[in-house]
Amino acid sequence: DWTSEQFVESTVAGLQEQLGNDKVVLGLSGGVDSSVAAMLIHHAIGKNLYCIFVDNGLLRKDEYETVLDSYKHMGLNVKGVNAKDKFYAALEGLKDPELKRKAIGRVFIEVFDDEAHQIEDVKWLAQGTIYPDVIESLSVKGPSATIKSHHNVGGLPDYMKLQVVEPLKTLFKDEVRLVGKTLKIDDTILGRHPFPGPGLAIRILSDVTPQKVHILQQVDHIFINNLKKTGLYDDVWQAGAILTPVQSVGVMGDERTYEHVVALRAVTSVDGMTADWCRLPYEFLADVSNEIINKVKGVNRVVYDISSKPPATIEWE
Ligand code: XMP
Repeated sequence: DWTSEQFVESTVAGLQEQLGNDKVVLGLSGGVDSSVAAMLIHHAIGKNLYCIFVDNGLLRKDEYETVLDSYKHMGLNVKGVNAKDKFYAALEGLKDPELKRKAIGRVFIEVFDDEAHQIEDVKWLAQGTIYPDVIESLSVKGPSATIKSHHNVGGLPDYMKLQVVEPLKTLFKDEVRLVGKTLKIDDTILGRHPFPGPGLAIRILSDVTPQKVHILQQVDHIFINNLKKTGLYDDVWQAGAILTPVQSVGVMGDERTYEHVVALRAVTSVDGMTADWCRLPYEFLADVSNEIINKVKGVNRVVYDISSKPPATIEWE
């Protein structure tokens, strides 16, 4: 039978053998997968692991600062890189979801590559790829065709000439969390909902601007904060908000308004391959909706997504 203790023991030993005294570079995302991969490798090779955490300007509100701090507390050798403007510039005017993903993937590789080149004699690239990522990427070749390009798989440019190490490749999400627990990673990181690599860009339908990111960050923050305050956060597999390009008429005092519609999405799932919408309490939804409309300028209507996957997907793009 699989146990996380055994997995950690044999994986750390295997990594020590495989990596020896080589230097390894890893991109942290703030998520569970890259954090657990980093700690596994950290246990095996310590300071020879160089972590890079890129602020792509598409993260949740305050996430960059908070997460960078917690990585430093974990003893990781981590460098934060603010590259927001590069991502916004590459996204300017792009409306198609796949073009947005490609632009983000391309800029990420550029930024990451620049940083990696500053590490003398680095030999390996570590990634937090987990089993479902591998499967969804393989489906490109299957009869079901590409659904979405997951840029965190196979996105390595040839010229980097780094060998790839992916210690979580055989695991499902719940197993990754167990491994993280065994490694004593903080619950605030382990319990985090999954968050897509392209971040809020694929929750802003149509083109992305810094202003839209700002609106969505506030909306998302209110939703997630209320989930945490009411203790519902851990019952939900993934939650977030979507900024639609739809504007609708509303009324505020004596004034007619014409502003954005946002959607809230919360799902239950085991591994993200299938999902059902969460039956969140009406009272909870009412409170969140009121708070959003009262506090966030530019939003006058909130809807709740009641679609399951399939046939819908978790993200809207
Ligand atoms: P979908 O929308 O395909 O999402 O039902 C399933 C899971 O994958 C995440 N997701 C992504 N993750 N890059 C990522 O790293 C992406 O392009 C991407 N698209 C979707 C999504 O958030 C959910 O957890």
